[in-house]
Amino acid sequence: MKHIDIKKVFSTPDYIGNEVTVCGWVRTARNSKNVAFIELNDGTSLKHIQIVVEKENNPDYKEPRVGTSLKVTGKVAEGRNNTVEICTVPENITILGDCPSDYPLQKKGHTLEFLRTMPHLRGRTNTFNAVQRVRSVMAAAIHEYFQKNNYVYINTPLITGSDCEGAGEMFQVTTIGYSTDYKNEQDYYADDFFGKKAGLSVSGQLEGEVAAMAMGKIYTFGPSFRAENSNTPKHLAEFWHVEPEVAFAELPDIIEIAEDMIKTVIRKVLDTCPDDMKFFDAHFEKGLIARLEELISHDFATVTYTEAIKLLQESGEKFVYPVEWGCDLQTEHERYISEKVFKKAVFVTDYPKEIKSFYMKQNADGKTVAAVDLLVPGVGEIIGGSEREADYDKLVAAMNERNMNLDLYTDYLDLRKYGSVPHGGFGLGFERLIMYVTGVSNIRDVILYPRTVGSIR
Ligand code: 4AD
Repeated sequence: MKHIDIKKVFSTPDYIGNEVTVCGWVRTARNSKNVAFIELNDGTSLKHIQIVVEKENNPDYKEPRVGTSLKVTGKVAEGRNNTVEICTVPENITILGDCPSDYPLQKKGHTLEFLRTMPHLRGRTNTFNAVQRVRSVMAAAIHEYFQKNNYVYINTPLITGSDCEGAGEMFQVTTIGYSTDYKNEQDYYADDFFGKKAGLSVSGQLEGEVAAMAMGKIYTFGPSFRAENSNTPKHLAEFWHVEPEVAFAELPDIIEIAEDMIKTVIRKVLDTCPDDMKFFDAHFEKGLIARLEELISHDFATVTYTEAIKLLQESGEKFVYPVEWGCDLQTEHERYISEKVFKKAVFVTDYPKEIKSFYMKQNADGKTVAAVDLLVPGVGEIIGGSEREADYDKLVAAMNERNMNLDLYTDYLDLRKYGSVPHGGFGLGFERLIMYVTGVSNIRDVILYPRTVGSIR
């Protein structure tokens, strides 16, 4: 269907005075004696284009209902307030799909909760339109960042036999339901599709390390799955995960890459999506753009876990979860550190080994590991990473301490036998970064179809 993007009509002054064809969905329609107005949106821009319908020769013209899809041919003209509009007559408007009056998005101003009940339609509101455009630009910016810096894009398997984080949060993949015919678990799994227990990957890291041990610098960008029973505004059962893995790198190198990547992606969004970002600034978080400009023009802070615990203990703040060395930092602690203490993005490093994963490099103190989390105001943790344990014996010891089945990790252990090198990486929760960049405070609103505990559609 020959037509041009509405975004292009707005951004190409040469179209003024010329005839164009656009397609889109009606956002508003007004009718008066000699002239009628339609606001049309095709998803390419936040702004709707105004269609001015000269109806003098067609007094029976009836305005289309909100939600109707149209194809319109008309002449581009300068409109009010430095914008452009399309002037046409009723004969040059084709209804592609009528929209009955029970269309749920007739009126503006629906709550985000209400819109969550219709993921198939909410994309046609300004908010979700803007979220998806920003999301797309951020995804492209992430690829661009890594491609420019010589990383190889790797697709790691989604079905796996090993639990990367060891937290027991894997969804099981099976073709047979549970049956009492099997005497034990082993017999049951042996009969299943893969001949052993399989699940959806919580992280591509273990295979990412395999690739980095050959390609040097790699990144993955795909979905990860977590059967966490966390019904919070920042947890999804299926989220998009960006995971670079770098050979010949230690923890400070990993921190430097994370900061550089975040800043580059935010710069790109601010430059590429000014209208969408102004919309979020006006409707979701006043001062959002200034906050992001501020963030990318300063160094992120760095603090060790031990120092962070001291800061929390000396804060005089009443936390729901008690703070003591060895505890996992809860969202309230993470937010206090980034929002109240540092008032910016903070890397927290060197966590107690007991609360982190088996693969992290063991520090000389025997108590901590070379882990890093990036905490940002408003959201909390958006990145989790580490230098990896590259020593075979130390890694096996850490796995044994956790009673892990080493047979499931033979490939991973082989990497430490054959030319092991210092290496590390991190995982960025893509949706959490989108929340931070847009000011949208519930993760369910930055993904097309959210999958959360107790809810699937
Ligand atoms: O801290 P996590 O669990 O780290 C890993 O998975 C490592 N294997 C990553 C690596 O080193 N390659 O998860 C990384 C990030 C978190 O910081 C968070 O942003 C996001 O993934 N994340 C989630 N996002 C949405 N919903 C969930 N349920 C998430 N779980 C983790």
